[in-house]
Amino acid sequence: MDRIRIRGGNRLAGTINISGAKNAALPLMIVSLLTPETLTLTNVPRLADVRLLQRILQNHGVDIMIAGKRPGQNGQQGDTKQLSAKTIADTTAPYELVSKMRASFWVLGPLLARCGEAKVSLPGGCAIGTRPVDLHLMAMEKLGASIAIEGGYVVATAPKGLRGAHIKFDKVSVGATHAALMASVLARGDTIIENAAREPEVGDVAQCLIKMGARIEGLHSATLKVSGVSSLSGAEHEVIADRIETGTYAMCAGMTGGDVLLKGARPDTLGEVIAVMRRIGIGVDETNEGLRILRNGQALEPIRIDTEPYPGFPTDCQAQLMALMSMARGTSTIRETIFENRFMHVQELVRLGADIHLHGDTAEVHGVAKLTGAPVMATDLRASVSLVIAALAAEGETMISRVYHLDRGFETLEEKLAACGADVTRIAGN
Ligand code: EPZ
Repeated sequence: MDRIRIRGGNRLAGTINISGAKNAALPLMIVSLLTPETLTLTNVPRLADVRLLQRILQNHGVDIMIAGKRPGQNGQQGDTKQLSAKTIADTTAPYELVSKMRASFWVLGPLLARCGEAKVSLPGGCAIGTRPVDLHLMAMEKLGASIAIEGGYVVATAPKGLRGAHIKFDKVSVGATHAALMASVLARGDTIIENAAREPEVGDVAQCLIKMGARIEGLHSATLKVSGVSSLSGAEHEVIADRIETGTYAMCAGMTGGDVLLKGARPDTLGEVIAVMRRIGIGVDETNEGLRILRNGQALEPIRIDTEPYPGFPTDCQAQLMALMSMARGTSTIRETIFENRFMHVQELVRLGADIHLHGDTAEVHGVAKLTGAPVMATDLRASVSLVIAALAAEGETMISRVYHLDRGFETLEEKLAACGADVTRIAGN
């Protein structure tokens, strides 16, 4: 297994290209199940999760080609993928595949909408919490599906097709919103989705569906109105820039007192993150090319924050913020309200010298003057990258093992950081 070695202390300066968003690319690829025509996605990040989903979709009969670069595209941009689900070969998503990546459960809605049946393994638990799928199932039932749980699988049928419905979520869920949207676009009649997630990735998927012929109103709001159509066509769509990668590199730059241009970043999708950076004392300037992040000697100010659904501060940046606040001048309070167990990074940050105490869903982070390198272990995607942030500022060497977690969601992380002056090396495992 690969490891990443970081020798801390270098100030980051330069340009980092922001990749396409993992959490938009995954549902966009799943959208391809809704049409027999070709869906072309550009700016698809090269990530382990994308490759895994590709295998899952191929199992359903989706033909996937990686096209060459187009005129005007440069080497920094992600892949162009052409996905064609001419026929659905298999409506079962097996446990062996779904258990490796939760988002693959989201094939349930499109398979049901297109084929009237789907058998999808329940995803099981994961490192950040129990993560149930009750809201997904409620949405499918409202749309007219019959659901049974058999041998660890959700068996869903709608022999006469899905019909429009009023779906009201009692909790904001990104995945359940994707599911309701993807299923209702091909349902008969109108659907209202209330308390929908407003994450930019949901808007990106909705925009792609509209290009394919779907009729959706209320984009980026908490109430989506869908008028079902009988079929969807192919389309071409560019995956939106990754706001979590943007926030992460902003914190890397802030942590090292750097000056970094995040090229291609979309400030309009960052919600609370920009305001939080500024409150901490990190300069954030919107430029024509993206975002410039600058900290020139100012201290990091402590902060009190709760994670929230978009546009609030994202749970996917919580671990990174905690690493940053570990060197603030004073005590920060970070409350995790989305997932009950997303504090796996705390003990590893403590190994680097951070002073963090957990009280239920809240972490109290007492800023320290110095962190010191140590061997640490990556536990989940965002937790892993929080260790990178801490290591960039720590004295001496940090060796991060189990970096396959990082590879799930950060494209060429060590190259991007090294290009800005970080001393970071990947050590290939055997
Ligand atoms: C998406 O996961 C993201 N994944 C997560 O990104 C992200 O942390 C999360 O949204 C929250 O923003 C992808 O986009 C691929 P949810 P999702 O349904 O959709 C509860 C990353 O690091 N809930 O919005 O699975 C759930 O337990 C990750 O890239 C139910 O109770 O999250 C949680 O408490 C990991 N019942 C809350 O809702 C349900 O049926 C929000 O979860 C569904 C969810």
